[in-house]
Amino acid sequence: MPKSFYITTPIYYVNASPHIGHAYTTIVADVLARYHRMAGVNTFFVTGTDEHGDKIAEAAQKAGVTPQEYADKISAQFRDLCPELSITNDYFIRTTDSNHIETVRHILQKVYDSGDIYFGSYEGHYCVGCERFYMEKELIEGKCPDHQTKPEYRKESNYFFRMSKYQDWLINHIKENPDFIRPERYKNEALAFLRDPLEDLCISRPKSRLQWGITLPFDENYVTYVWFDALINYVTALDYPDGEKFKTFWPAAEHLIAKDILKPHGIYWPTMLKAAGIEPYRHLNVHGYWNSDQSKMSKSLGNVVRPLDLKDKYGLDAFRYFLLRDMVFGLDSNFSEEAFVQRLNSDLANDLGNLVSRTIAMAIKYCDGKVPEINREKKDSALQEAALKAVTEVESSFNDMSLHKALIAIWEFINVTNKYIVENEPWTLGKDPANKEKLTAIMYNLLASLRSIAILLTPFMPQTAEKILRQIGVAKSSALDLANIRKDDALTAGSPLTRGESLFPRINQEKESETSEKKSPVTDLKPEIDYEEFTKVDLRVGKILTAEAVPKSNKLLKLKIDIGEERTIVAGIGKDYTPAELIGKTIVVVANLKPAKLMGVESYGMLLATDTDKGLTFLTFDREAKTGAKIH
Ligand code: MSP
Repeated sequence: MPKSFYITTPIYYVNASPHIGHAYTTIVADVLARYHRMAGVNTFFVTGTDEHGDKIAEAAQKAGVTPQEYADKISAQFRDLCPELSITNDYFIRTTDSNHIETVRHILQKVYDSGDIYFGSYEGHYCVGCERFYMEKELIEGKCPDHQTKPEYRKESNYFFRMSKYQDWLINHIKENPDFIRPERYKNEALAFLRDPLEDLCISRPKSRLQWGITLPFDENYVTYVWFDALINYVTALDYPDGEKFKTFWPAAEHLIAKDILKPHGIYWPTMLKAAGIEPYRHLNVHGYWNSDQSKMSKSLGNVVRPLDLKDKYGLDAFRYFLLRDMVFGLDSNFSEEAFVQRLNSDLANDLGNLVSRTIAMAIKYCDGKVPEINREKKDSALQEAALKAVTEVESSFNDMSLHKALIAIWEFINVTNKYIVENEPWTLGKDPANKEKLTAIMYNLLASLRSIAILLTPFMPQTAEKILRQIGVAKSSALDLANIRKDDALTAGSPLTRGESLFPRINQEKESETSEKKSPVTDLKPEIDYEEFTKVDLRVGKILTAEAVPKSNKLLKLKIDIGEERTIVAGIGKDYTPAELIGKTIVVVANLKPAKLMGVESYGMLLATDTDKGLTFLTFDREAKTGAKIH
């Protein structure tokens, strides 16, 4: 464990309200902060809002208010979300804070004085959504790959940061510190950016065009470009340059972001730090994207998932659990309410909730409502071994940021504990007073397991952990950490046991969806086939490599698909998907369908899909599947 730990989230733009993507990053940061604090590590956790720039100015104008009024309103939504999600940030930074403005101007002046900022002219394709210029080759069909809008062509004189000067240094730094950017796929992506010569970074906007920014200390007529402003928040929050916090926490800086802002964090920020004479951060931790209904969340698609709606409907800890359990750190994940409810019912209501409620009920019955005294030599070591295994796995999962694996390890332990109940049948032992000692030991072991589970769950589900501890009579003030599990501390005999409310009531999915909708038998079922016949269909995992419209057809798209070999498949999906959104999708292919010609193009294979109210949708996988793998 490090001595200090500094964890940051991106500072979020104030042009739209928070959604589950923002909530996810902040919750992961919270889990990491809680975990380190629990281990006694000196921790500082910062989140906040990014408030300058074209985007905010435009949104404010549309709303008919000043940028500051607009920023105040949305920033408050992000700030208020923190206590709602039990986020334990130590500081909430806003780029409109005066100490931040001062720090940005200080660093700009420093870099300017050292000769790494110069005045020059620039022209190119500028996307307002991304707040950056794009090179011709980066555009897809002339549009921004992220926003699918046509960028404006802009030409202006501006200040530039000599980023190119630090290219070789950065490549070496990444190579010498292989986990500087992690997981590895994002390190490779950063190195891929660095394969081409780095251009210098335009860091200003003339005030004639944009007023809403921090004025350059060396030219009154310009404001700073948003990234040069925003990234500096990470050191402002530590009172750079002279603050004690900066000395303590900067060497332990862990940034947490999603893949969308890898370039500014992996390329701009380290070179800015180098130019300002500041050591690089320790790690850049990059996660994937939450999609909704298999596509990117966007207001226009109407598929934005709002964190507070889910929290209010299902409870905070269930929401935190689902997000942390269902995303493999680094990969994209799809949000669906059905999957959420399924996890809630199986992992939380069945496995954990039942374990707690039946253990407490039995312990109250067989041990007079108190934690029993036992002869510790007679302790059953199987449960303790399972607890130790979980501790080791949780620790290693935190080391490599795979929080879902930590939860899998905790659930293995929960399941071992549930099995222990089934195998030992306390209810049978309870029928004969001669078994009293054995039964007491079993109940003690179960209560000790509940304490270990609560400790392990604390960073992830703090409210649940507290509820469990309360039920087994552990005082709120007790400082607990993984070392308590390792040492197998004794529970305090005589502590009162109390029955709590059900931790996670089951959600009746049918009821949730529509109680009035009675299920009737399917009437258009095809004639039955036997298994032999079914196995004749060769289904494979396919990955869409390219997609283009078939000339003269308004519906057909020609797809190149990797199923272990490259196939051309023509599909009638042009009205449901644009070619750009298909590329990279993993789908199900009928691989042994005889080839056929469609509008003159030979098609070999078929994709599986179904109709929905919103159009056709493909069958995909809820975990990463290997391209070309057989489906059975
Ligand atoms: N203001 C910049 C960041 C400056 S940091 C110095 C910005 N803001 S943002 O509001 O667009 O937030 C982007 C971040 O929000 C992502 O990197 C991620 O942390 C989170 N997410 C936003 N949408 C997301 C998903 N759909 N899925 C997962 N996280 C996402 O970029």
